[in-house]
Amino acid sequence: MLKVENVHKSFGKNQVLKGVSFDVEKGDVVAILGSSGSGKTTLLRCLEFFEKADDGRIELGELKTDLKGAHKSVANQFRQHTGFVFQNYNLFNNKTALDNVKLGLIKGHGVDKKKADELARKALDKVGLSDRLDYYPSELSGGQQQRIGIARAVAFEPDVIFMDEPTSALDPELVGEVLETIKKLAENGITMVIVTHEISFARDVATKVIYMDEGVIVEQGTSLEIFSRPKQERTRQFLSRFLADYDYVI
Ligand SMILES: Nc1ncnc2c1ncn2[C@@H]1O[C@H](COP(=O)(O)OP(=O)(O)OP(=O)(O)O)[C@@H](O)[C@H]1O
Ligand SMILES: [Mg+2]
Repeated sequence: MLKVENVHKSFGKNQVLKGVSFDVEKGDVVAILGSSGSGKTTLLRCLEFFEKADDGRIELGELKTDLKGAHKSVANQFRQHTGFVFQNYNLFNNKTALDNVKLGLIKGHGVDKKKADELARKALDKVGLSDRLDYYPSELSGGQQQRIGIARAVAFEPDVIFMDEPTSALDPELVGEVLETIKKLAENGITMVIVTHEISFARDVATKVIYMDEGVIVEQGTSLEIFSRPKQERTRQFLSRFLADYDYVI
């Protein structure tokens, strides 16, 4: 459903992505793991056309394009099919929860006001915020704000949602409710590509795990393959940092 091929991106002399390729099937939850600076955010930003890649291709359903020369109108076509969840929520602070989600639908996706209201309420219900429609972000916890961010991304029923460390800005006690929300989306068959440092979440929820280091995919496979039988020494070392007492079946 989503095919990413050979993505390259440099900032000046800093080669951040050195040919990244992976496939996503409908219903997949892909977890991207990797240490800080390995290029995970840059990769997602290139796939959402926030950043212009130097090389590479993307296919999403019937849509196909080179990333480098992609015209704005092509980027917009892709964005009609992809949602994005930011680490820091990116909400309008002067808009209520309901209006934040509605605005995305109206401005970003050309949905009429009545339909936007209906879809926004449905999306906020999915993330458990039906009782907070008229609250402003400052009146909500970080976990609730991020759930608005997730509602905004699911509201227009995209083919795939990209999430960049959706829980890393949260206080530890709020991480669980957001992971639970994402898990529910997964159970409902929503396709997601999630950059995360939540290793046990990735192990339990991801259908596919990608480990990145220094701008390349070191290893990718099913959750079982990566967590129980990692082939690469670099993957083992990375995981052992999180799972000190982890028993590998090698
Ligand atoms: N806009 C930019 N301009 C210049 N360099 C950048 C820019 N964005 C990212 N970089 C560089 O690209 C490299 C990869 O950054 P990126 O944010 O993609 O890493 P990451 O894997 O998401 O890390 P983290 O886990 O800390 O979020 C870093 O060396 C970073 O300094
Ligand atoms: Mg990042």
